[in-house]
Amino acid sequence: MKKIVIGCDHGGFDLKNEIIAHLKERGFSITDVGCDSTASCDYPVYAKKVAKAVAAGEAELGILVCGTGIGMSMVANKVPGVRAALCADCFSAQATREHNNANVLCLGARTTGPGLALMITDKFVDTPFSNDERHIRRISMYN
Ligand code: RB5
Repeated sequence: MKKIVIGCDHGGFDLKNEIIAHLKERGFSITDVGCDSTASCDYPVYAKKVAKAVAAGEAELGILVCGTGIGMSMVANKVPGVRAALCADCFSAQATREHNNANVLCLGARTTGPGLALMITDKFVDTPFSNDERHIRRISMYN
């Protein structure tokens, strides 16, 4: 089963816990890098922890949750080897795995309800990269 590393800031704390419970129930191995409460904190700290763990191969996929998912995605995409995608719908979650081989999912807890967020998460973790030559070529052009 896939290893997944997950992190959040205060805005994403409650949703992160729902995602962890859901993915554990599904049998995934989860590493939670924090934060550990709804006390105000700095999302770049957790974005970097998750992004570096994915880039180092410590987990196949990462998940980051903040208020909008925007700050998390901006920071995570600065780490070489990370392709972070902010998703607010299931189509995007599937497409970004198939086309972009995204390895970090970013979610906004203040913009996406928990029911939809779990569906997006399932779509992201269950969809393999297409391995199509055109997508491999395009991804190789990112850097
Ligand atoms: C925190 O207030 C908020 O800025 C953060 O959760 C996130 O939305 C940043 O992009």
